[in-house]
Amino acid sequence: MDDKLNLSETEKKKIIELIKNNQPLPKEYLYKLYKEQEDVFLFWNGRNEQTTNVVLPFHSIEQIDEPRKEEGVRIKSGDLQFGLGFDAEGRQLKGWTNKLIWGDNKLILSSLVNGPMREEIEKQGGLKLIYIDPPFAVGADFSYEINIQNGEDQLIKEPSVLEEIAYRDTWGNGLSSYLTMLYDRIKLMSQLLANDGSIYVHCDWRVNSVVRLILNDIFGSDNYKNEIIWWYKDPSGQTTEFYKRKHDSILFYAKDKEYIFNMDAVRTPYSEGTLKQAKARATSFGRIVEVNPLGKIREDVWDIAIINSQAKERLDYPTQKPEELLSVIIKASSNEGDLVADFFVGSGTTPAVAEKLGRKWIACDLGRFAIHTTRKRLIQVQRELKKNGKPYRAFEILNLGKYERQFFFGVPSDLSEEAQEKILQRKQQKYIDLILQGYKAEKVNGFKLLHGRKYNRYVHVGPLTVPVTKSLIEDVFEECKKNLITQVDILGFEFEMGLVPFIKEELKSKGVELRLRYIPKEVFDQQAVEKGEVKFYDVSYAEVDPIVNGRSVKIKLKNFVTYYTQDDIEDLEQKMKNGSSKIAIENGQIIKITKSKNGILNHEPLTKNWSDWIDYWSVDFNFENKKEIIRIKTNEKAKDEANKYDQVWTGNYIFENEWQSFRTKKNSQIELTTAPHSYEKSGKYKIVIKIVDILGVDTTQVIEIKVG
Ligand SMILES: C[S@@+](CC[C@H](N)C(=O)[O-])C[C@H]1O[C@@H](n2cnc3c(N)ncnc32)[C@H](O)[C@@H]1O
Repeated sequence: MDDKLNLSETEKKKIIELIKNNQPLPKEYLYKLYKEQEDVFLFWNGRNEQTTNVVLPFHSIEQIDEPRKEEGVRIKSGDLQFGLGFDAEGRQLKGWTNKLIWGDNKLILSSLVNGPMREEIEKQGGLKLIYIDPPFAVGADFSYEINIQNGEDQLIKEPSVLEEIAYRDTWGNGLSSYLTMLYDRIKLMSQLLANDGSIYVHCDWRVNSVVRLILNDIFGSDNYKNEIIWWYKDPSGQTTEFYKRKHDSILFYAKDKEYIFNMDAVRTPYSEGTLKQAKARATSFGRIVEVNPLGKIREDVWDIAIINSQAKERLDYPTQKPEELLSVIIKASSNEGDLVADFFVGSGTTPAVAEKLGRKWIACDLGRFAIHTTRKRLIQVQRELKKNGKPYRAFEILNLGKYERQFFFGVPSDLSEEAQEKILQRKQQKYIDLILQGYKAEKVNGFKLLHGRKYNRYVHVGPLTVPVTKSLIEDVFEECKKNLITQVDILGFEFEMGLVPFIKEELKSKGVELRLRYIPKEVFDQQAVEKGEVKFYDVSYAEVDPIVNGRSVKIKLKNFVTYYTQDDIEDLEQKMKNGSSKIAIENGQIIKITKSKNGILNHEPLTKNWSDWIDYWSVDFNFENKKEIIRIKTNEKAKDEANKYDQVWTGNYIFENEWQSFRTKKNSQIELTTAPHSYEKSGKYKIVIKIVDILGVDTTQVIEIKVG
């Protein structure tokens, strides 16, 4: 390829002249200036060729090996379980562990491409298939309807601040920011894809014209295979101005010329007419009709039912796609044992189908609720496979320990580092002042991490865009210790999973009383702040009871308390029309507000029992049994990639999910006592109980027991 500009002297002069006069260049110059001189090239406001290359360590939050030992067929050894072998504790002993990763997929992809997990992926033969279903340009992607225990009402879970920011990043400038979001991510995905792999990108009419151009740009139009039309017959929508829109497009590209494609696995039935002709050995257009016993070649229009309100697989995740759709894609474009990924996983359709079809998987999502929905769904799949004596794999839930502040703050990356830092600091200071005002705390100076004081307690304002992490809390503690401070409040929008109450106990034993409080969204409403209406609430807690009998233990849930407030009830009441009803959350209560035809208001609490709040809980009967080991780069100079990394214990333990109970659409009951767990040896054990409430937020309790 010629690297020189293809411009005549006159054109060069004209361009220089236009720039000197501060005048815009005609569009055709964009093409002429573009050095790769492609035939057609795609340009949008914000296009940037550089992909993100940050590497953040993955932290394991939870590991699910054998779900509920007491149920289904216990695995022994041998070729069941893909020959992986499970130990007496139900732990998978070797081989690939599937991964569900919570976080922004840009940072996840970049860490997968550039970090140590890349090697693990390559060892499995690389990613053979990627399916993605990115959000379209519609409404709030992160609001969900949540069923309440009375079985009739639904509550809308509002998006969290992190989710709103992600939404704004994606759609802030309309289509151009959407393209920037996708381009960067799909480029990273293309680097992870194996040479014989393929990618399927699901899109609807709003974006399919441009997504195809993006894919041509990244994979080359030669690697375009199909635009699959997923046709769903659905009675909704009554437009008379144009035809009803009843299909989505799925764009299918291969990485290279040689790629996995199993047509025989996805053939479709012949029509009755063809079968009759074949049987009679009749001719059609002068040919004898022959049929393939596996069915006819699949075409690119797929008639698959949408998930309707009665569908068995429905999980009440608004954008959930049918399993049948994924089943065709996975069967056609991967083989058993291959690694399949979905980086916008939503309710977990891709990993659920992949697991059932004996594929390995990686999945991620930014939404807490998506991760929780997928976790329940995959446990359900494991249980189902186990019940039927079929192989299944262990999976772990991971997140990125630390996020790039700059990334979320949206500081322009083309500025000098110094300028970036200045913008960041200015934004940071404004944000801290606002939160302190909302918390009615006074500002303090002279500390690195302590920002304010409220009576005797010092205050740290957690980051705007990332969860408060354990390492951040430890840094705040160090500063308290140095300054002989004994009480501190850490405020945050989100807290790393599984933080409470370990860290509180740990710091208490070291002489600092820690309070972790959620910052409510209203803090961004200046009026609410000025009126002193902003309420900060503590992270929830649970009470549990161990029932010990010899070396056997059962855990009983006794109480669960939350302090959520999502709505301003008075405001809501004012806005409600006569003869309507609304569901609201205030101070840990879900309330149904009804306004009669005459405007009379009635409040009915819907969460009558503490257990109504609980959606899921799980138990690790022997915490501190499995250390969290991560690989970090210690030897940059090593020639061999593998020798650059060392295995390091993070100081944390992995929560091994050994027993769990949760509500599903089919069965909304939840057990409040575990099955008995027997310890092999008598002694002291630490038990950890993790509870996820109906808003998808988790709370952890630790207890110590003595058995035998
Ligand atoms: C259309 S839904 C996917 C639905 C999925 N195919 C299913 O069957 O349930 C898109 C998902 O992308 C997630 N998402 C949006 N932006 C993201 C980001 N930057 N990183 C990770 N996930 C993201 C949303 O949380 C949402 O769950």
